[in-house]
Amino acid sequence: MKDPLHWIREELDIIRDKNLFRVLTELQSGQSPEIVIEGKRYILLASNNYLGLTTDPKVKESAQKALEKYGAGSGGSRLVSGSSDLHRELEERIAAFKKTEAAILFSSGYLANIGTISALVGPGDLIYSDELNHASIIDGCRLSHAEIKIYKHCDVEHLSSLLSSDESRNKKLIVTDTVFSMDGDLAPLPEIIELAEEHECMLMIDEAHATGVLGKRGSGATEYFNVEDSVPIVMGTLSKAVGSLGGYVGGRRELIDFLRNRARTYIFDTSLPASSLAASLTAIDIIEFEPERRNHLWRLIEKFKSGLKNIGLEVLPSHSAVIPVLIGEAKPTLDFARALRENGVFTPAVRPPSVPQGKCRIRGTLMATHTEENIKLALRAFKLAYDSMLNL
Ligand SMILES: Cc1ncc(COP(=O)(O)O)c(C=O)c1O
Repeated sequence: MKDPLHWIREELDIIRDKNLFRVLTELQSGQSPEIVIEGKRYILLASNNYLGLTTDPKVKESAQKALEKYGAGSGGSRLVSGSSDLHRELEERIAAFKKTEAAILFSSGYLANIGTISALVGPGDLIYSDELNHASIIDGCRLSHAEIKIYKHCDVEHLSSLLSSDESRNKKLIVTDTVFSMDGDLAPLPEIIELAEEHECMLMIDEAHATGVLGKRGSGATEYFNVEDSVPIVMGTLSKAVGSLGGYVGGRRELIDFLRNRARTYIFDTSLPASSLAASLTAIDIIEFEPERRNHLWRLIEKFKSGLKNIGLEVLPSHSAVIPVLIGEAKPTLDFARALRENGVFTPAVRPPSVPQGKCRIRGTLMATHTEENIKLALRAFKLAYDSMLNL
């Protein structure tokens, strides 16, 4: 009998032939500026732990206390037995932080996006989605069975022309990352808001990489652009700068009530454990009231970007802690990442499907816990990797 799974081997061979096969790298340490892999130390330039809060003593202590009081798991979905006072407290804290009337927690940002989009729109409705939106937005759009119109990356004119050609539709939703996960650049939020209002279109934003990094209080792009009252559906994650785990949506109370009743990834999913909730509560306080971490991060970002440009590398125009160096095809990008690793820096090659073909890159990410010395050593590694690429 032919093995019914035989096609998997063939598929894997195709992936390997294209230099797109992915393997795991095991860290034997936490998400610190320096990590340990196979007993060797490397500077970590690939973490979304932008403010270093994952390993912050106050954050860890809160998580430990909550673990002791509530146990390891939540035991149920929110609407059955998995709703605690900590869940409510964190939802209220997120709403205050993001300046929305209310907020709802999901177990991850991915689940927040797919659950929310598929609850908001359905067959016969229309979604306008930036071409570089995160996979969880794309999957949410697909799951909704609404018609999807992709607009060119951050291209307000293209979005406007698409909106103008569809006046008669039922429900319409514009959805965009604010900081794009692989490019680190910023959506033109004020212009998008204007278009959404003009065309009576719902607007949903994903603040995953903006939260903690942008705005004086670190609340994200809505604060940065001073448009906190103008975005009706604000999604974000607790897994990046907040340093913990989970996703959320903020907005008017009726939106939140609706999602509690209609978002399937909320209804049918076990809720977050107390340790994660408590960690997030402490981390949000640190983000809001200890701006010096963010200020240090931004000093490092500017230093790192200008250092990379001085080396001669093509740095994409980012405005966040995500700093992508464009290489091109998969093979040279893998070689570049290997050379970085040989020179003491860990950051993997980013290849399709995470980025379009021919746009492979090294996605450097910085953390507020990095030191100036870390950045100096990292830049030296980039210079050596670049030299070895030119000498090939
Ligand atoms: C823009 C964006 N949205 C959503 C997510 C998903 O969030 P989470 O990792 O919390 O599931 C990510 C994660 O990489 C992301 O980059």
